[in-house]
Amino acid sequence: MQTIAIVSQKGGTGKTTLALNLAVASERAGRPTVIIDLDPQASAKAWSKSRDGESPVVISTHASQLEEVLAAAKENGAALSIIDTAPHSERDALAAARMADLILIPCRPAILDLRAMVSTKELADLARTPALAVINAAPPRGHLADEAADAIRGYGLEVASVVIAHRAAFVHSLTVGQTVIEYERDGKAAEEVNALFKAACQHANMTAEKSKRRKA
Ligand SMILES: Nc1ncnc2c1ncn2[C@@H]1O[C@H](COP(=O)(O)OP(=O)(O)OP(=O)(O)O)[C@@H](O)[C@H]1O
Ligand SMILES: [Mg+2]
Repeated sequence: MQTIAIVSQKGGTGKTTLALNLAVASERAGRPTVIIDLDPQASAKAWSKSRDGESPVVISTHASQLEEVLAAAKENGAALSIIDTAPHSERDALAAARMADLILIPCRPAILDLRAMVSTKELADLARTPALAVINAAPPRGHLADEAADAIRGYGLEVASVVIAHRAAFVHSLTVGQTVIEYERDGKAAEEVNALFKAACQHANMTAEKSKRRKA
């Protein structure tokens, strides 16, 4: 089982949106997926309830239980666990980051989000887990995403080549207990999520063994 932690110290960058969308992309790709919700606001859990029990399973828990919950997910056949974390929760985010094969760090292409990347990068370094920044909610046209990616690379973080644009489908789909893949299967948002899922899997595959060796 692979584990991806979605972390950003800044609020509202798209952690929960990416966690849910990637989880459904993963299920659609035939990989049983569990979402572990570490946010006391439990947004992922609330979304799951609005789906009437459809997969993916969302488990709301505390960081202190993370190891056991991940072990149980693996035992129950999950191929992927995606951990959604709360903002400003250094200790819990660090626990998630340490248990993960890959950390995804969503970042809006805006100055306050970019500045906050410094502390999230420090957290990823502390966890000694490979991290990949994801530009989220970028204007579909223009140079803002490229400029943000350059700034993030300047902090020493790798940036996913897939950019997630600001699209209404991300908001509307969650409102009705879906993700963009279910809401607008052939839409641009679904295309971006599927591409990000592939990129994240490749990254996690490449890094899993390496990080396990380093942590041993
Ligand atoms: N790519 C996008 N396009 C349009 N809206 C988006 C996109 N990504 C996220 N949003 C919207 O931005 C808001 C914040 O997103 P989300 O809740 O996923 O962020 P978060 O990082 O989990 O927030 P928190 O730090 O509070 O947990 C939500 O209303 C969501 O619908
Ligand atoms: Mg959230």
